[in-house]
Amino acid sequence: MSTPQTATAPETQKGGDPSDLAASAKFAVSNRLQGKVAVITGSSSGIGQAIAVRLAGEGASVIVNYIGGAQRAEDTRAFIDKSGGKAFVVQGDVSKAADRDNLIDQAYLQFGRCDILVNNAGVEIGADFWDVTEEDYDKVLNINLKGAFFLSQAFVKRLIDAKQPGRIINISSVHEDMVFPHFDSYSASKGGLRMLMRNLAVELGPHDITVNNVAPGAIVTPINRSLLNNKEQLQALLNNIPLGRMGTSAEVAGLVAYLACEEAAYITGSTFIMDGGLMRNYHEQ
Ligand code: BGC
Repeated sequence: MSTPQTATAPETQKGGDPSDLAASAKFAVSNRLQGKVAVITGSSSGIGQAIAVRLAGEGASVIVNYIGGAQRAEDTRAFIDKSGGKAFVVQGDVSKAADRDNLIDQAYLQFGRCDILVNNAGVEIGADFWDVTEEDYDKVLNINLKGAFFLSQAFVKRLIDAKQPGRIINISSVHEDMVFPHFDSYSASKGGLRMLMRNLAVELGPHDITVNNVAPGAIVTPINRSLLNNKEQLQALLNNIPLGRMGTSAEVAGLVAYLACEEAAYITGSTFIMDGGLMRNYHEQ
């Protein structure tokens, strides 16, 4: 059996549409996050980048994290700077312990605190189940799940020591719940992220640390560019989406900004699906 279209590139780091940058900034309506500091992993492009721009637009100082693509990270920082926000770029791989510690340390060093952690960095590698290599499995699980697990731990340790409240927001996927054949390691990582979120909501609630997932469906990011250029495949996807279009990184960022703000203080242990109705899709017989 052949692997699906999204797997044509053997491995795709989640990316984003640069036009979402301006949209993400434009939607920022208030200073809801004034005085807060946020770490957003994988924020040099795509959904992560839109989140960094949006949180900064609402007053937070942000750590922009990237693995490769230093220029895009610098562009993100420059955009935030030009818009009157504060950002600092930190290179780091969330699957590495030293890099994870450094990410949180940098928030304290540069901005004196760390209130919000957005576990956004993620990869997906498509393959038939019987062809999945241990190396690819490890890569996906180490970034998507282990990275979020231990970065959250590093974040939480400092909060508990300082008796400070905090917010953890994981960028999960509709595939924390919905099947995604040929993306088995990815689905396993997102399913793991779902239960990690639920557990941590209970364990960290007494410390006033909330934990939630945002689960996007099909979002316009570079990961989907070839799909967007393929009329037939795009139409097949859109037929499955009741709203008849893909979502934007800016839309995802708006939900994250809400979950990070004061108003959302009573929300923990939940997954927020943003998929244009994809998960509830039903075709009349
Ligand atoms: C994946 C995309 C996919 C979307 C909807 C996301 O989690 O990263 O590749 O198109 O889910 O299936």
